[in-house]
Amino acid sequence: MSEVIDSYDYVRILEDDASELLTYSVVEPEFSPEERRVVDNPAEFMGDYKSILSRLEFLRTSTEKEEFLGEYIRKHLEDKNISPGNREIIVSLVMDKIFFGYGKIGPMMRDDHLEEIMVNGVDIPIFIVHRKHGMCLTNIRYESKEELYELIGWLSKNSGRHIDEKTPLLDGHMPDGSRANVVISPASPKGPVITIRKFRRQPFTILDLIEKKSLDSGLAAFLWVCIEGFGIHPCNILIAGGSGSGKTTFLNALTMFTPQYERVITLEDTLELNFDFLKNWVALEASPSLISKGEGKIDMQTLVENSLRMRPDRIILGEIRGAEAQTIFVAMDIGLNGSMGTIHSNTAKETTIRLTSEPMNLPIVMFPLLDLIVVVNRRYDKNRGIIRRVTEVGEVAGLEGDVVQIGEIYKLNPKTEEIARTKYPILLTEKIARRCMLTKQQVNMEILKRKFVLEAMIKRGIRDEKEIIKLFQQYHNNADAVLLKLGIAERMHAKKPQ
Ligand SMILES: Nc1ncnc2c1ncn2[C@@H]1O[C@H](COP(=O)(O)OP(=O)(O)O)[C@@H](O)[C@H]1O
Ligand SMILES: [Mg+2]
Repeated sequence: MSEVIDSYDYVRILEDDASELLTYSVVEPEFSPEERRVVDNPAEFMGDYKSILSRLEFLRTSTEKEEFLGEYIRKHLEDKNISPGNREIIVSLVMDKIFFGYGKIGPMMRDDHLEEIMVNGVDIPIFIVHRKHGMCLTNIRYESKEELYELIGWLSKNSGRHIDEKTPLLDGHMPDGSRANVVISPASPKGPVITIRKFRRQPFTILDLIEKKSLDSGLAAFLWVCIEGFGIHPCNILIAGGSGSGKTTFLNALTMFTPQYERVITLEDTLELNFDFLKNWVALEASPSLISKGEGKIDMQTLVENSLRMRPDRIILGEIRGAEAQTIFVAMDIGLNGSMGTIHSNTAKETTIRLTSEPMNLPIVMFPLLDLIVVVNRRYDKNRGIIRRVTEVGEVAGLEGDVVQIGEIYKLNPKTEEIARTKYPILLTEKIARRCMLTKQQVNMEILKRKFVLEAMIKRGIRDEKEIIKLFQQYHNNADAVLLKLGIAERMHAKKPQ
């Protein structure tokens, strides 16, 4: 017997006594014969979709594309007298089929509750990782190899990367920006395997992460000051963590503190960062040697070097894996402050070791150019779902001989499972004060003000990404006006920083 333990839109989450895994079940609505014809054969009812496809190329973001397409299909459906009740779901299904190439996984691609979609082969149920329910089986499977190869074809085309027997691995992305990895035979003898890291339509903002207790408002305010650096000298920060721990998400949220007058260049192996909220943002992507049979290979290091000729204010590396580590530190050395990146590592200490050993080989004397290492972690709790926390913030305090000294200024309290200040003083506040010609008290006061701003924004239910970023920018331009607007001005007068 299975029991529905959660349901929304067209999704039911089922618990079955006989199975250890929950089932994620997609229920298709009842269609009339006319509607069914449109869903099964959309190309037939929209003869001119090829010309539409070419118009899509001129639109920048996937949201813009989706809005444009939605309008277009909706209009066609109205002309066809499709009932309004099913119109929206049909619009989505048609888009999945003929424009995005999602096919079967369309409903899952549109579900923001999902973190990952895993296709393990033909005629095997697709697995998903649900934000709330963890790993689930689904009621969806690819029934034939052809159907699955159709998706792989779309993926390869969409990311401009080739896949065949000689180069059976592909890192690409879906039209909505989700990252996808494909392995085919002979590397995966049992058939194609596709792993999709779902892109969130609504990216997490720092306020979301505070609400989810991934960090607290005090730490967020401290990071805001570090990242904005009073418009004078921002800090260099690395986000460390295991796979799927939330590094990229955290980096994305932190970048929203960047002032709009800065030019930001991101460098990634596979495009994932989405800084559409920045006005002067350029995304560069390295191409692996696998594509184009070795020709035109551009590695991360070359890309980082090139980015330095593009007059960046900051460069941000999606994932630091190899020799590019040195280049980004060279960039910091020539005054490119505010550089950030993510790195695969579980503690601040481990990060120092990884960076200074093979294959990154960062000369240890360069290490003090880095200011902070923020460590994030994920674990699964049966009752609470997936829990993601900042577990440690380490500041680079200097070198002692050939050992990097890390000051652990924030640490996860295992009892409360919340991040908390440790007893160690924060040297970075003094550094920031010196760099920006302020007193330590002024820096601390600023952190306090921003903490109040973040808390007031949460209290007022400000959720919209655009509104949040606008407030951050307004704060950089005229802090007093924002303090007044959020009703914090009086509160500040009563407070004296320590
Ligand atoms: N603090 C968080 N709370 C809830 N979900 C999160 C959080 N951080 C990340 N996620 C989700 O976890 C998944 C993996 O996050 P991502 O940032 O891509 O991890 P990483 O870069 O470490 O591999 C994504 O689906 C993302 O939306
Ligand atoms: Mg990542």
